[in-house]
Amino acid sequence: MDITFLLNGESVELTDADPTRTALDFLRETKGLTGTKEGCNEGDCGACTVMVSDRDGTRTLNACVLLLPQLQGKALTTIEGLAAPDGTPHPVQQALVDHHGSQCGFCTPGIALSLAAGHLNFDNDYKTLLAGNLCRCTGYAPILKAAEHAASAPVPDHLTQLRAGQGPAARAEEGPALPGSADALAHALMDRPHATLVAGATDVGLWLTKQLRTLPDVIFMNNVKDLQGIDITDANIHVGAGVSIERLRLALAPHFPSFAEMLRRFASTQVRNAATIGGNLANGSPIGDTPPPLIALGATLHLRRGDHRRTLPVQDFFIDYGKQDRQAGEFIEAVTIPRDHNNLRVYKLSKRFDQDISAVLGAFNIMINDGKVQSARIAFGGMAATPKRALHVENALLNQPWTRETVLAALPAFAQDFTPMTDMRASADYRLVAAQNMLTRAYLDDQGIATSVQAVMP
Ligand SMILES: Cc1cc2nc3c(=O)[nH]c(=O)nc-3n(C[C@H](O)[C@H](O)[C@H](O)COP(=O)(O)OP(=O)(O)OC[C@H]3O[C@@H](n4cnc5c(N)ncnc54)[C@H](O)[C@@H]3O)c2cc1C
Ligand code: FES
Ligand code: FES
Repeated sequence: MDITFLLNGESVELTDADPTRTALDFLRETKGLTGTKEGCNEGDCGACTVMVSDRDGTRTLNACVLLLPQLQGKALTTIEGLAAPDGTPHPVQQALVDHHGSQCGFCTPGIALSLAAGHLNFDNDYKTLLAGNLCRCTGYAPILKAAEHAASAPVPDHLTQLRAGQGPAARAEEGPALPGSADALAHALMDRPHATLVAGATDVGLWLTKQLRTLPDVIFMNNVKDLQGIDITDANIHVGAGVSIERLRLALAPHFPSFAEMLRRFASTQVRNAATIGGNLANGSPIGDTPPPLIALGATLHLRRGDHRRTLPVQDFFIDYGKQDRQAGEFIEAVTIPRDHNNLRVYKLSKRFDQDISAVLGAFNIMINDGKVQSARIAFGGMAATPKRALHVENALLNQPWTRETVLAALPAFAQDFTPMTDMRASADYRLVAAQNMLTRAYLDDQGIATSVQAVMP
């Protein structure tokens, strides 16, 4: 397919390009821009971090799971484009030198780009920005010091146009592989129901780089702007399927702080900037991080096939392992999250705090009235073949006094709801005990007792 974008300020026009080629391979093999490093080639290490800009602003992405059509109409900045045209280093590059923030240097281009994007966006949450940039030798103290020292420097002139509202405008309708509206997407999928739909490519990218699959027909959602909105009313938060997990995190923070805090630990900034909520639901993973809180909140899924639309509760979408209630040619348009009646607490347990897939994820929406459990919606990931509600546990709590005794009495019900499996992330026994402990934690948190390791040991 034909793809046009800016690369370090220069126009690139590709004719008949392979739509499943990664930006990383293109940069290193076609353009000889080897400053963008290849480490894991699966989105985990951040060595391949680049900046991508459009009218919405600038964000970091991992080039190893970024496919060329996702760059259509955008501006790509690599480490070779970070210094000013006269060679003056970017303030974060200079600060990394001044504060000894680099030893072997393999991670340094990615780290410089993560920090440069933070600098451009006035974002000084460096630990979150860098959670997806693995440095094996320097250690993060000098890197964080460099970030702090660069913060007060002005954004270099050659990068100011990468700010929100000033980047290039993606062209809307770009042909059968890159529809520009939900209608065009619906028709493309009716014509080619077995084409692979690509949203953020943080799953699909790995099919290519790790499983070495070929995808003969692909349809990209990147330019489907009408599926990228977030509408907040008194009653609901309506989220388009193409909304990135990072935008979702920021939008949910004032309304569901516990959900948003969990999303801070969803992969890394680079992956969250690409990954969409639609992709996280559609992949049907039993350890996807958004289904349990959405189920606990009673969210509704909006599906579309051609001109036919239907809705169903998120919990009913997951039928069995690898099987969702979705027909060929059908796609997720949006999710609606009700705002009333919630007291949501979400706990993610993973082997590593940052940038790790959940072993167990519990979401608890337990409402108390007059000291009694008025309603309880509890859902888990990592405990069954699908994200699943803990109906026996809910029933054991319902209408009971909200006390520690009630919680302890409900714990055996977990074994009725779940028969978890043992895998490399956790054993079955560990998962069951962890899930039970999460209910106890929800109770203690509700009583105002600090349970987070970070709160207990500041
Ligand atoms: C390094 C790394 C870390 C990760 N960490 C986490 C984590 O902590 N938690 C977590 O939950 N996941 C994690 N993931 C998995 C992945 O990022 C998420 O599942 C993500 O939400 C997928 O969204 P996407 O837009 O990238 O989907 P894509 O890769 O584009 O697509 C995934 C699947 O969904 C389909 N699809 C996409 N959009 C739609 C739609 N609107 N309608 C119908 N089908 C659709 C695609 O056809 C494909 O089958 C991680 C991935 C990586 C690479
Ligand atoms: S090479 Fe590791 S994230 Fe891309
Ligand atoms: S400087 Fe060697 S990996 Fe970071």
